[in-house]
Amino acid sequence: MTAARATAEAPANIAFVKYWGARDLDHAVPWTASLSMTLRRCCSVCTVEVIELDEDLVQWVNRNGECVDPGVGFASRVRAHLATLRRRLGTAARFRVATRNNFPSSAGIASSASGFAALTMATVAVAGRRLDPAALSVLARMSGSGSAARSTLGGFVEWPEDISNPQGPAAQVATADHWPLCDVIAVTDQGEKAVPSRQGHRRAPTSPLFATRLSLVPERLEQARQAIRDRDLEGLGRVIESEALDLHYIAMSSQPPIYYWNGGTIDVLKTVQRLRKTGCPVFWTMDAGANVHLICSQAERETVVREVEALESVRQVIRDEVGPGPRLLDTHLI
Ligand code: DP6
Repeated sequence: MTAARATAEAPANIAFVKYWGARDLDHAVPWTASLSMTLRRCCSVCTVEVIELDEDLVQWVNRNGECVDPGVGFASRVRAHLATLRRRLGTAARFRVATRNNFPSSAGIASSASGFAALTMATVAVAGRRLDPAALSVLARMSGSGSAARSTLGGFVEWPEDISNPQGPAAQVATADHWPLCDVIAVTDQGEKAVPSRQGHRRAPTSPLFATRLSLVPERLEQARQAIRDRDLEGLGRVIESEALDLHYIAMSSQPPIYYWNGGTIDVLKTVQRLRKTGCPVFWTMDAGANVHLICSQAERETVVREVEALESVRQVIRDEVGPGPRLLDTHLI
């Protein structure tokens, strides 16, 4: 049975232990497990509607609520994922897809994790199927966006749950309620990153540092899980900063090298050092881009916001925090 349409809202996530480098890039089969915090405010909303056409229709909903052309890159990734989902769900239906991000799409924050998690959830619902978050994570990963697997669950999430099965599901390490951590996002570059993550994954094994990091990840995962269990911000901070540095060391020493940082990145990292010296526990991580995610408790959040807002090189500051994960909505974009 198919419903006429379904809408899902799925959050972005910030990786504490990174997914960087893949055994199979097209299917996002990772070398190592990764662990992230699901966000609350930075979300994608996606409506999927069954249509009587021979082809899928992919649209982007802009800030004014108008459906616009999403650009070839995004549309072709969505079409390819719809074809995969049709095979997996056993349906021949064609779909109209409309997606909107409720965070500024010009903020330079990766939206493919939230976008593909929302697309997967809405398509499963419109096909009349009910899947648990673990099964959804396996389908979301097939989009080629590995981080989308982690956005199908809330709180703190590890993917894959068992690295001896790298195509396996994600699993929740702790709920959002367990530890209400904040993520203050210091946006130093509002544009799209010059080198997509996909290129970074592809080049990662050319770095002489890649193999060393692979050997360190199991211990880091255990340290991150333990820190989350114990709500130990300093313990978590050590792991996330080492992981972010390693991702960027690998990117910078890949062939050809990738330099994601800009001047604002350094300004923010120096501010973190200064804040810590004054006794403010704040720690940083970065994905494949120049923006910095500042992880702290709710008590420290406004101090952190104030300090980074004062930097000329910071274009925008977004307040986010750990959130409960995706959900189906009963209002639709189209
Ligand atoms: C640096 O392949 O999931 O964010 O294609 O943008 O979805 P997209 O990225 P993906 O790689 C994510 C890379 C990362 C680290 C991480 O989230 O683990």
